Amino acid sequence: MSTNNLNVVVLAAGLGTRMKSKLAKVLHRVGGLSLAEHVVNSAAQLTAPEKITVVVGHQAGEVQAELQNTGVRFVRQAEQKGTGHALLGCRDLLAPEGGRVMVLYGDTPLLTAETLRKLEAAHEAGDAAATMITTTLADPTGYGRVILDSHGKVLEIVEQKAASAAQLAIRLINSGIYLFDAERLWTHISEIRADNPAHEYYLTDIAGILNDSGHRVRALQIDDASELLGINTRLDLAEVDRVIRGRKNRELMLAGVTIERPETVTVDMKVRIGADTVLEAGARLLGNTVIGEECRIGAGSIIENSTIGDRVRVAPLTIVESSTIGEDSRVGPYSRLRPNNTVGAGAHIGNFVELKKTRLGAGAKANHLAYLGDSDVGAKVNVGAGTIVCNYDGVSKYPTRIGDGAFVGSNSTLVAPLAIGEGAYVGAGSVITEDVPAGSLALGRARQTVKERWAEKKKNGA
Ligand code: UD1
Ligand code: CA
Repeated sequence: MSTNNLNVVVLAAGLGTRMKSKLAKVLHRVGGLSLAEHVVNSAAQLTAPEKITVVVGHQAGEVQAELQNTGVRFVRQAEQKGTGHALLGCRDLLAPEGGRVMVLYGDTPLLTAETLRKLEAAHEAGDAAATMITTTLADPTGYGRVILDSHGKVLEIVEQKAASAAQLAIRLINSGIYLFDAERLWTHISEIRADNPAHEYYLTDIAGILNDSGHRVRALQIDDASELLGINTRLDLAEVDRVIRGRKNRELMLAGVTIERPETVTVDMKVRIGADTVLEAGARLLGNTVIGEECRIGAGSIIENSTIGDRVRVAPLTIVESSTIGEDSRVGPYSRLRPNNTVGAGAHIGNFVELKKTRLGAGAKANHLAYLGDSDVGAKVNVGAGTIVCNYDGVSKYPTRIGDGAFVGSNSTLVAPLAIGEGAYVGAGSVITEDVPAGSLALGRARQTVKERWAEKKKNGA
């Protein structure tokens, strides 16, 4: 963390008209995190959270809720009259604190703290009132163009909408990342006028204003333009998401995770994965998921907000949500774990088995075509093919308990509330409505009758 007195302001009040969305732009997600969270995370590597101020406006409540745990401060911009107006709204709060002010836009999530530190270093090294990050783009459309003098000093920034044909040909663009000397910023910011076709207060006008008042504005040109990509449309959103996920995959692979066909795999930023785990093509690991070592996550499987122990095999096309799976277990293919299951070590969950709010003990097996909801299944229980727990009577949900080592025959129907004791047996095809004591056999089906030579008699009209 810098020892400088540094305030960071993140502008995040705009709707983002070009997104064509009801959702405020900074709440859209890339790499599994909102745009706002990405930018705040980078800023938090430079300064203390209480020195980060986020300007909110559109869906302010939602944006604040999204950032609630980060410890940042918020300033409301009731009407979105432009980036200059948004920063001006922070003056009363921040001017008394002096020091330096870094401004970031909430729609540039690829920024790294490393680049922001370079900006700090460049600013410290010079005598400028402001230092801004710029880069050269093959296609600068939409960005503000940076006009330099022959010594490389910034004269002004011209917005796309206000630029002349000659200025539009300039490919040096404004990234929207600035570091200001606080005193000179707060003195001059009120000189910004909305005298442009859009009637907006452009923060970018501050460059020309400082320059006209005899202060220097420096440009720090960086080569990797990809970091500066701002999100204005859904096309940008997809592009930035691709870059962020590429970064995450690279980090995982360098830490010992095998990723087959990485371009097809989706791993959210917060996910942690142990070494020697293999992700097959098309796997999706989302939210706060943690995967142990030496696991295999099958093709097309989706695991969200779940914790998976070491050496677990998740076969293809399996869905796991908000659940914990113990080490050495096998799940899938085609299993579905709805929220809140705890699966013990060495358990097996096979194809077309659905679990909800269920504990499956260590070494328990439900290998084929079963539904277990609101259930507590002991260790080493065998749940036969086609077993269904009837946990819902149309009004309420009821629990089912199956003791350790019990054996539930295939195609059993277990009507909850129900307790099956330890080591008990349920005959195949039973409908069980009453508790089964430990060690006993329960049969709940019609006795079979056989009519010998029945077919022959029917043919003879008997
Ligand atoms: C801005 C810059 C442009 C630069 C580009 C880089 C201005 C005038 N232009 O253009 O020079 O090349 O970013 O990506 O600054 N916001 C508010 N309140 C407002 C308006 C905007 O908080 O009243 C926030 C938005 O939520 C957004 C950020 O400021 O996070 C940038 O606004 P946006 O409209 O995307 O600016 P650009 O047109 O991309
Ligand atoms: Ca933008």
